[in-house]
Amino acid sequence: MNINFQENFFQIKTFRLRNRKLSVKKKNIIEFLWPLIGLNIAEDCNSVKKIFQKSVPVILEIGFGFGESLIHFAKLYKDVQFLGIEVYIPGICFCLKKIYKNNLNNIKIIHLDAIFFLKNYATNISFSVINIFFPDPWPKNKHYKRRMLQSNIIYLLLQKLIIQGILHIVTDSASYAKNIIKILDYISGVECVTKDFQSYYLEKNNFFTRFKQKANIKKSKIYEIIYKKVF
Ligand SMILES: C[S@@+](CC[C@H](N)C(=O)[O-])C[C@H]1O[C@@H](n2cnc3c(N)ncnc32)[C@H](O)[C@@H]1O
Repeated sequence: MNINFQENFFQIKTFRLRNRKLSVKKKNIIEFLWPLIGLNIAEDCNSVKKIFQKSVPVILEIGFGFGESLIHFAKLYKDVQFLGIEVYIPGICFCLKKIYKNNLNNIKIIHLDAIFFLKNYATNISFSVINIFFPDPWPKNKHYKRRMLQSNIIYLLLQKLIIQGILHIVTDSASYAKNIIKILDYISGVECVTKDFQSYYLEKNNFFTRFKQKANIKKSKIYEIIYKKVF
């Protein structure tokens, strides 16, 4: 498992890593399962392109945390390839274990800063759907600059979608949601399809990520933002 944050040194981070030591159990999980499920793109930049050669739709999930949503959708859509990207190693570890236990062979995982990945490794690649569920809200004004979904990154995400591709964001931060919608409404070539998809997602969305659960406990309003790239 490789990561090179130095190359991305000057970019403001959208996450904060805690340098806790990994238990032996977690180390063993990684040692055993990473070669089966993980992609070391820093060593083999063609590894991502290989999954696109199967000519099946590829759904990207950024910041999957413990992977509940990734696993939920991968179980539902066996003929779709899922690519999850996360920087939080305990979450990756948990997710690797679940993928293995559920015998899912349609998920690959990358351990890297998603923005760094999209800018440097996701060239000539287009996703059918990009999911971002509960991106870190960075609620204090002075930390807004750390929010992932700023206009430049939203443009970048849209560039990486196929025509008719879907950008699906869920957050319980009202100010974040308002800002994301403001940015997306300003961009030509995208169409808000939240209402069209709502009933579909209500039916299929009966999964709980840790942060969805936290939002429900706090009784926070959850904002579902779904846009389609039309050109
Ligand atoms: C608030 S948590 C939500 C996790 C999960 N989606 C959920 O709903 O429970 C945000 C996640 O995004 C990850 N993250 C933040 N910035 C990231 C980045 N630039 N690249 C990859 N993952 C990132 C964090 O490590 C964290 O696990």
